[in-house]
Amino acid sequence: MTDRSAPGPSRRQLLLGGGAAAGAGALAALGAERAVAAAAGPAADEAGVNGARTVPFHGPHQAGVTARQGAHATYLAFDLDPATDRDGLRAWLRLLTDDAARLTQGRGGLADLEPELAARPAGLTATIGLGLATVERAGAQPPSWLGPLPSFPIDALEDRWSGGDLVVLLQGDDPTAVSHLARMIVRDSRAHGTLRWRQTGFRRAYGTDARGTTFRNLFGQVDGSTTPAPGTAEFDAAVWARDDAPGWLQGGTSLVLRRIAMDLEGWDAVDLAGRSNALGRDHATGVPLTGGEETDPIDLAAVGPTGLTVVNPVSHAARAHETDPTRMIVRLGHSYDDPVEDGSLDSRGRPAVSNVGLLFGSWQADVTAQFVPLQERLAQADLLNEWTTPIGSGVWAIPPGCAEGGFIGETLFA
Ligand code: HEM
Repeated sequence: MTDRSAPGPSRRQLLLGGGAAAGAGALAALGAERAVAAAAGPAADEAGVNGARTVPFHGPHQAGVTARQGAHATYLAFDLDPATDRDGLRAWLRLLTDDAARLTQGRGGLADLEPELAARPAGLTATIGLGLATVERAGAQPPSWLGPLPSFPIDALEDRWSGGDLVVLLQGDDPTAVSHLARMIVRDSRAHGTLRWRQTGFRRAYGTDARGTTFRNLFGQVDGSTTPAPGTAEFDAAVWARDDAPGWLQGGTSLVLRRIAMDLEGWDAVDLAGRSNALGRDHATGVPLTGGEETDPIDLAAVGPTGLTVVNPVSHAARAHETDPTRMIVRLGHSYDDPVEDGSLDSRGRPAVSNVGLLFGSWQADVTAQFVPLQERLAQADLLNEWTTPIGSGVWAIPPGCAEGGFIGETLFA
């Protein structure tokens, strides 16, 4: 809390050079704004300061899979250059690992001209994923599920948001640190691959909500209440590659990314009861319509006074519900809010005024056994489909983590 009993010098005093905490010389050196911030004292926002937080890079799993989700996410997808052979691929993965290992720990990259930008990593993680062409280029056996998803009737996929032979997912609580690592990765990839697309997303800014508060997407829904949390048996059962996966993937998982456009103008016309009905949970609080707390189990069989089930059987929660952890997915959501594109129309045929949606990521051991049946169910019937359209899609194998001196993807070359 700020100490109000001993106020610091006013901004005016400081700018005039009359503050007790900073003399005119210091002001000139620091710049007025920085001096004002410094004079406010370190106690001003001590509890919220998060810049120095690091997530260890090395370990049995890639850190981004188990870390708390960052307030900011950037996905970078690359096409593998035809000239990049097995050795070139190994060199590329080493470079990417080196960048990630340094910058996530607050150190500048090799030949980094702005190492200061790396100094406040704020929980930065980098997760590297490999598409089918990359695994084949390494001469390794791909898992059976690696490749594009089957097409679903709800899809309106665009090439510019789909595919990619290699993906890097950056997450962190500070957009400057995320941007700087993205720049290093793009720079260091030039000799081996071509940037295919870049997608950025966000959750609430760090410090806005108490830790542990569930994400709210841009429909205003509480989103993620039921997803298995790292460190639980459910998470482990859902995420880590099974024994029948290729040896190089043990300790790894898979990533599916769906870019899902959200029709905010159409959603505006839906009242609170309609919103809760479409979801199967109370719109404002995220509590199941059958009551209790946000994280209490939903009772899909409960019948109301009218003789109908309380939860609409074609609501999103009812259609997506799964109780067997080996068939669950772990969801990872970030909103996007991008500039409106020239000439684009909204769902009613009027000039669009928004271009928003969800970067819907998910971790699962086996895409065919877990993600596909779930997405099939939702594509067949889900009230939310009225306002959501998948416009991008990709699938990658997420190799295990590595020890110091190793690199992500090294098991492909074993
Ligand atoms: C823009 C698109 C989407 C929105 C806005 C959305 C929103 C939500 C919300 C608000 C919940 C309830 C809270 C919670 O349990 O987390 C939920 C649950 C869930 N969603 Fe989605 N979702 C979307 C797309 C998807 C997709 C594409 C999938 C999978 C293919 C999916 C799978 C799930 C699952 C598994 C649950 C938990 C259901 C349960 O067990 O109760 N969602 N979603």
